[in-house]
Amino acid sequence: MRITFCCTGTKAQPWLEGLQAALPGAVVDLWTAGAASADYAVVWAPPQQFFDEQTGLKGIFNIGAGVDALMKLRLPPGVPVVRLDDAGMSVQMAEYVCHAVIRHFREFDGYEADVNAGKWSYRKPRSRADFSVGIMGMGVLGERVAQALQAFELPLRGWSRSPKSLPGVQCFAGEAQFHDFLAATRILVCLLPLTPDTRDIMNRDTLSRLQPDAYVINVARGAHLVDEDLIALIDSGHLAGATLDVFRTEPLPAQHPFWKHPKITVTPHTSARTLREESIVQIAGKIVALERGEPIAGIVNPARGY
Ligand code: NAP
Ligand code: GLV
Repeated sequence: MRITFCCTGTKAQPWLEGLQAALPGAVVDLWTAGAASADYAVVWAPPQQFFDEQTGLKGIFNIGAGVDALMKLRLPPGVPVVRLDDAGMSVQMAEYVCHAVIRHFREFDGYEADVNAGKWSYRKPRSRADFSVGIMGMGVLGERVAQALQAFELPLRGWSRSPKSLPGVQCFAGEAQFHDFLAATRILVCLLPLTPDTRDIMNRDTLSRLQPDAYVINVARGAHLVDEDLIALIDSGHLAGATLDVFRTEPLPAQHPFWKHPKITVTPHTSARTLREESIVQIAGKIVALERGEPIAGIVNPARGY
């Protein structure tokens, strides 16, 4: 069995060694243009040339949860595209989102500013009931985030494509319930995949529907958010601010207004990193399962785009 590795922006050697150790009977190579076709591909944002040349693939493994970069390419028809299914990302995402939610709810940014100015000051405790957290995207990551947030007793709402029932979470589904979901949300968390249906989903219209003084946390993809609309709504006072981990262009360009906006916190796409060891175990296990003709989780539905 041959495995080819083509991951833009990723240090290849530890992956090649790890995959080789996990699948000792396989030949594991770094892809180069013109290489012979392999059985399985392990990829992140490969060039179109990769798929044009790799005509014998039986499975394509993406080393991330989001497959939006892959979905832009012409992929070999009928070959399963498999995304990372948690692989250690959901706990990281829960840490990041809980931190951002609590930092905003407890006004720790304000306390930091006071302390830096040498001020010993108190703020009036806020009511939990006023800080309903709405999670868009209740998949592997969204569900784990909701579970983690339950510890803080904030009202929780979740929105997904198909209806769900989760203890402690008021669930909304589909277009028909989207505006109701937004209307009572005070802290909006985006954990959707980027698809034609979800691109630009956080825009002037939808963000205006949130509770006054709402806060936005985007940990999904930059193209879910219309940057100018977010800034206009913060500057007009409708939104309190935002924590953003993902951007339309990454790295975030030096001149982008998000960098210096006093009410926007920026992190460099780091909320849930791909963990190499966990990911290799998951991918190797799924390759073995596919070879045995067994079903696997995490296969992308090309019609839905995630
Ligand atoms: P997932 O398990 O596929 O969950 C996606 C969720 O979004 C599902 O609940 C799905 O609804 C919902 N959804 C999809 N399209 C929708 C639509 N049109 N309307 C309403 N709901 C919709 O994905 P995941 O593993 O949780 O990952 C989510 C995303 O997080 C990834 O695609 C990626 O972009 C992002 N991510 C970011 C980082 C980072 O470091 N910033 C790391 C990992 C992932 P159903 O349940 O009904 O299908
Ligand atoms: C990271 O953003 C991922 O999709 O895994």
